[in-house]
Amino acid sequence: MKTILITGSSSGYGLETARHFLAKGWNVIATMRKPNADVLPRADHLRILPLDVTNEESIAAVITAAGPIDALANNAGIGVVGAFEATPMSHIRNVFNTNTFGVMAMCQAVIPQMRERRSGIIVNVTSSVTLAPFPLAAPYKASKQAIEGFTEALVDELAYFGIRTKLVEPGYAPTTRFTANSAISPMDLIPPAYQGFAEPIFREFGNPKMTTRETDVAEAVWAAVHENSDRLRFPAGEDAVALFNARFG
Ligand SMILES: NC(=O)c1ccc[n+]([C@@H]2O[C@H](COP(=O)([O-])OP(=O)(O)OC[C@H]3O[C@@H](n4cnc5c(N)ncnc54)[C@H](OP(=O)(O)O)[C@@H]3O)[C@@H](O)[C@H]2O)c1
Repeated sequence: MKTILITGSSSGYGLETARHFLAKGWNVIATMRKPNADVLPRADHLRILPLDVTNEESIAAVITAAGPIDALANNAGIGVVGAFEATPMSHIRNVFNTNTFGVMAMCQAVIPQMRERRSGIIVNVTSSVTLAPFPLAAPYKASKQAIEGFTEALVDELAYFGIRTKLVEPGYAPTTRFTANSAISPMDLIPPAYQGFAEPIFREFGNPKMTTRETDVAEAVWAAVHENSDRLRFPAGEDAVALFNARFG
């Protein structure tokens, strides 16, 4: 039985990904900042371990406790939406510490064991914001775009050791806690001068024509883990697929 470690499994896309791999019979190490066994079905092949991806000691402890890891899904992430000039640098640093440096630190932690076994797969969950301009999300987009570039560069570097590296690019799920945490509403980070610009964008976000389901992301992570070709990008959700097709044809 193969083992996947998933970051940010307490809710949303990460939780659904943990459910999906459990249902398929994988050993699942569902990691959470605050472990909560109630959100997942009880199973012998499930372990729930504490992990904060911004904390090096926490990362070292989870890697020691986990044992051999066949697949790592770097899903944990936080958002921030607002006018860039009004977004405090402390928010921006937090976003990068989780979405960018957290992913890099997790990769550094698993690569040695995967390299020694000459096998493994790393799936970095970015966002469909990388596929289009997305004003009012500049720091978030930059944090995810950095991971797209990072992953592109890692592909060949790690393929040399039999490790595969993939990107899952989810679209927008208006129902997740992520959205609630992202300061989309109220318009905290929208100064009066930006209101005319921001209002139509937020109206569209409030009533999107296409969205992403949590199962779309779980299925995309599953597909990425099982992909043996050199395909790198896995857009997840109909909105993400539409943006992907517009960008890459
Ligand atoms: N929802 C969307 O519209 C959307 C669109 C595109 C991409 N994404 C990406 O999809 C991923 C999952 O988002 P989601 O929508 O499922 O949001 P979510 O429900 O808020 O889940 C985010 C998860 O990340 C965890 N997390 C946050 N900071 C962490 C840290 N420092 N260490 C470890 N875990 C941490 C959260 O844990 P806690 O419970 O401890 O807070 C939570 O489990 C993120 O990378 C996000 O950027 C989301």
